[in-house]
Amino acid sequence: MTDLLAHLDADRVLAPDRDWWRQAAVYQIYPRSFADANGDGIGDLTGITSRIPYLVELGVDAVWLSPFYPSALADGGYDVDDYRDVDPKLGTLADFDEMIAALHAAGIRLIADIVPNHSSNRHEWFREALASPPGSAARERYIFRDGEGPDGTQPPSDWQSIFGGSAWEPVGDGQFYLHLFAPEQPDLNWANREVRDDFLRTIRFWADRGVDGFRVDVAHGLAKDLTAPLRSHAELEATKLAGDGSHPLWDREELDEIYAEWRAVFDEYDPPRIAVAEAWVAPTRRHRYAAPTSLGQAFNFDLLRANFDAGEFQEIVDRNMVFAAETGSSNTWVFSNHDVVRHATRYGLPDDHTVEYDLGKAWLLSGGVTPEVDVERGLRRARAATLFLLGLPGSAYLYQGEELGVPEVPAIPDAARQDPTFFRNAGVEVGRDGCRVPLPWTANAPSFGFGPTDAAHLPQPDWFASYAVSVQEADPGSTLSMYRRALALRHELQAEEKLAWVTLDGPDVLAYQRPSGWIVVTNFGTAPAELPPPLTDREIVHSSEPAPPTPGVVPPETTIWLR
Ligand code: NOJ
Ligand code: CA
Repeated sequence: MTDLLAHLDADRVLAPDRDWWRQAAVYQIYPRSFADANGDGIGDLTGITSRIPYLVELGVDAVWLSPFYPSALADGGYDVDDYRDVDPKLGTLADFDEMIAALHAAGIRLIADIVPNHSSNRHEWFREALASPPGSAARERYIFRDGEGPDGTQPPSDWQSIFGGSAWEPVGDGQFYLHLFAPEQPDLNWANREVRDDFLRTIRFWADRGVDGFRVDVAHGLAKDLTAPLRSHAELEATKLAGDGSHPLWDREELDEIYAEWRAVFDEYDPPRIAVAEAWVAPTRRHRYAAPTSLGQAFNFDLLRANFDAGEFQEIVDRNMVFAAETGSSNTWVFSNHDVVRHATRYGLPDDHTVEYDLGKAWLLSGGVTPEVDVERGLRRARAATLFLLGLPGSAYLYQGEELGVPEVPAIPDAARQDPTFFRNAGVEVGRDGCRVPLPWTANAPSFGFGPTDAAHLPQPDWFASYAVSVQEADPGSTLSMYRRALALRHELQAEEKLAWVTLDGPDVLAYQRPSGWIVVTNFGTAPAELPPPLTDREIVHSSEPAPPTPGVVPPETTIWLR
């Protein structure tokens, strides 16, 4: 480890700053697909540690690590067997300690994913629940109900799981348990004090190990009202976005109390641990989770769901600047993560193609069709969108591989698929495997350098070679070079969390100025845009297009940064 980090700047050492998260660039690692140290085809913690110099060079401030806990991988690790251990497939607690020490030594914080809505069905609590009779304390940690119908064989309600099929699973003694996700993910009962206390223990366990913050999975789901009679699925769907706390499953008022307890634990640490909520709620409800008395920050998926369109982008930025000011939190911006079709691909879809962005289902290419994707255009627009995002006030959440411009991998053989979405929808919805394929590091190496062997837990297509880090590092016009330069410049561009729009002609061009004086201009249109005179005097410090910029002109589907 010492060798590995010997070349690092001493000034990268972490400053004791309690506001470090406000405008951080956070890089999401999906650990099974990042780097494989031992060659079994599954990315691991030692693999991450070995790639820290890459993260340093990329210039990110923090890593968000998707679940790394023991898991049978019924849902990519979001089915947790034990919240206070490391999956043996990924390493050991000692590997974790080494990884976090190396990250910190490199000036990078760590945000751990925490999955409180459901455990896995292999968690010791769930095993105990199954072995215990109806009405027992062990069953009270989950949500068990008696079956309906004359012989009690019908589920307690017609609720559908988010991955498809019934949300209730029978256990053979007349009772069913609730699983809003896969059957391997039984929902925990957050009305139970023991469940609440156990999570406080889990938070302390990782915070004591140096974890700087938590990404809270399904943060809007924990509290539930299951008072009989249960309403129908159709009725619930109709009120899903009411945002008035009346839905029995989502976004309930009791969450405030749960997160206030978490906040008290976060604040026991110096600097306080941070948290970011994954909450697929109406934008007007997001402030609950972002409040300083609650988790402190919440993902804003608005840009992720938007078309590449100046009007939509501007409206979203305005709206979220207001929200951030209201809560005192900072903005969060994101285009890609492990649940959605990569933005380089989304932006290359035919103009008339709709991606289904139902709440919580943003990963789906609609109806199982694989539309023609204009790869070149998708990447051009993704790069422009990314430079637009990286200039905005607030924190930027980046997903591994987007810095390489890797598109979604559409063609994965059925036999290799892993996502429960695929299996529970008879293959009509392909699910999320296409954005989780192991990264290409080296063009001419087994598994493209993902690991020392050619094993990769999801098959990598041949065309991955051209996206490899080894190819892009050598090319100043590559997507990787664009990200590196942007992240290096970002610290100079970022100042106070404010922006002012600069009025330019035409409906397709947006420009905003930051208090640092820097101006970000994006041309969303397909024709070049002329800059007005005061802007032509400025230095173009960065561009999303590899070609040297022509002064005074923003090429189609391009962002430039002006100083
Ligand atoms: C959201 C996670 O991001 C997703 O990957 C997972 O399937 C669900 N929550 C259930 O945990
Ligand atoms: Ca491995």
